[in-house]
Amino acid sequence: MRLAVVGAGSIGLAIAWRAANLGARVTVHDPAPGSGASRVAAGILAAATEAQFGEEALLPFMAESVDAWPGFAAELEAASGVPVAHRDTATLMVGLGEGDRAEIDRLAALYRTTGRTVDTLAPRRARELEPLLTHRVRGGVLVPGDHAVEPRAVHAALLAAAERAGVEFRAAHVEDPAALDADQVVLAAGCGSAAFGLPVRPVRGAVLRLRASAVQPRPAGTVRGHVHGHAIYIVPRDDGEIVVGATVDERGFDRTTGTAGAAHDLLRWSIDLVPEIAEYHLDEITVGFRPTAPDNLPLIGRVDDRTIAATGHYRHGIALTPATADRVAALALGDADAIPAAFDPLRFEEGS
Ligand code: GLY
Repeated sequence: MRLAVVGAGSIGLAIAWRAANLGARVTVHDPAPGSGASRVAAGILAAATEAQFGEEALLPFMAESVDAWPGFAAELEAASGVPVAHRDTATLMVGLGEGDRAEIDRLAALYRTTGRTVDTLAPRRARELEPLLTHRVRGGVLVPGDHAVEPRAVHAALLAAAERAGVEFRAAHVEDPAALDADQVVLAAGCGSAAFGLPVRPVRGAVLRLRASAVQPRPAGTVRGHVHGHAIYIVPRDDGEIVVGATVDERGFDRTTGTAGAAHDLLRWSIDLVPEIAEYHLDEITVGFRPTAPDNLPLIGRVDDRTIAATGHYRHGIALTPATADRVAALALGDADAIPAAFDPLRFEEGS
């Protein structure tokens, strides 16, 4: 079976790698592999703390994929020789003001519907667990099952693993997937999938990358916060990098305007929560675009007998990579029931 994958972000590469391992002859088409959302993503693997009201249909798939991550990371590292910095330290979510604390209580009730462990923390306990937190924190929750990974390393590993598995790469831009010489085609071009008629819009996100020196204290694990009504996350890595994110803007493909304000907001809110952030070196601000369907749920499944969509992952591209890859590879190789119906890419068409 000859499979063409359009898009060499993490989703496209993981599908290619998995399908090649199942015996498909795979070609990936992308003029600039890894130049999209995979380069900007923070790498949060959060089946609980990324849950949103109104998006409950995603939760079982998120849980499946997040729980698959430790095995996926180990397999990927073995296949590629590239470490992906998977960290299984717990995620702490805290509120700064009374309103923030009340919002976390409201969200915790949603997180608990996933059946995952969500422990309520008094302020003192939150600060015992993370001494870098401001003393003004009003409490929060500890979520042991929400982890993180380094998306740029994941992308490099997927490129290497796919190449080793025999996947071929074409650096050309695809105008017409119907013209590709393949039995099956997967559209995994992120926001670029809109050019193929898929209903994705770009939801802009700005992310900061900071760096702590070897002697500076760093958060032990991911810290998420609600800071006077604003959500923020701080993701530390073993090598001293600290990712602070993220804005959520409906600005189309605008990569430039408002980035000064975005950096200001992210720094202000993160320093309010973890004052030590002010002492780190600011390495970069990166702006990316989350490919997002009208209902914020992924677009995964058949578009026609030959074409499969694998996009619209919104905030969850890295978290959903293992489950998307396994299920889309299975679908391409003949398992018609591989994908949850809620993600049908044709669900917005009239009469569906
Ligand atoms: N996954 C977090 C974000 O998109 O900001």
